[in-house]
Amino acid sequence: MELFSTLLWLKETDSTQQRLKEWDAPYGSVIVADRQTEGRGRRGRSWLSQEGGLYFSFLLRPKDFPQLLSLPLLLGLSVAEALEELGFSPAVKWPNDLYLGGRKVCGILCELSGSKLVVGVGLNVNQDSFPPSLPATSLRLEKGREFDRREVLLLLLKFLKEGLEEFREKGFSPFKGEVERRLLYLGEEVRLLGEEEVRGTVAGVSERGGLLLLTEEGLKEFLTGDLSLRPS
Ligand code: BTN
Repeated sequence: MELFSTLLWLKETDSTQQRLKEWDAPYGSVIVADRQTEGRGRRGRSWLSQEGGLYFSFLLRPKDFPQLLSLPLLLGLSVAEALEELGFSPAVKWPNDLYLGGRKVCGILCELSGSKLVVGVGLNVNQDSFPPSLPATSLRLEKGREFDRREVLLLLLKFLKEGLEEFREKGFSPFKGEVERRLLYLGEEVRLLGEEEVRGTVAGVSERGGLLLLTEEGLKEFLTGDLSLRPS
């Protein structure tokens, strides 16, 4: 499978995730859209997809990437490295977001659908505002200038391709330290909201991509949940 050898750029669609699930595209294909009318995020949330952002999905073979827990971290790290090339210092929020200056700039979604593993990336590039309820930012808001979304996409795909190829061969171990170096809230007290609420201090990520929290009962690994800073 040649990653990203086919690319389709649409003006508007419901969701690039949905297109790859429904259409019969070859593995490795990428679908990009200028706007999505039904952009989707994790846990059934919607993903605001107005003009100016970069919204794309690509299709992987599930058997090539069985380490589903650490895959989003590897993807987040690859996007972070691409943004570093543009002069940003993003933080990786476990399990799959990127933050700039305390605000979300990128979200990543990995969905299994039959024989398809569909990965979606939403990156805020040229938006100049967000609804006040969203603690979000864009590359433009951070740097005070517009970015060429085609150039940003090509840079992201380059880092994603390199990252995915090495991950497929060697697994998550070579990347664990690089993720921890950029981990949002490392050493800080947080709340993890899942089936129940857990409190603890972020200690790192595990070999399989779980979140390590130092809780009152000691060091524990968590496989799902939503992280937020514990209010002081
Ligand atoms: C999240 O943070 O909850 C993940 C957001 C993922 C958004 C991207 S945008 C491209 C692709 N198409 C979608 O409908 N969602 C993903």
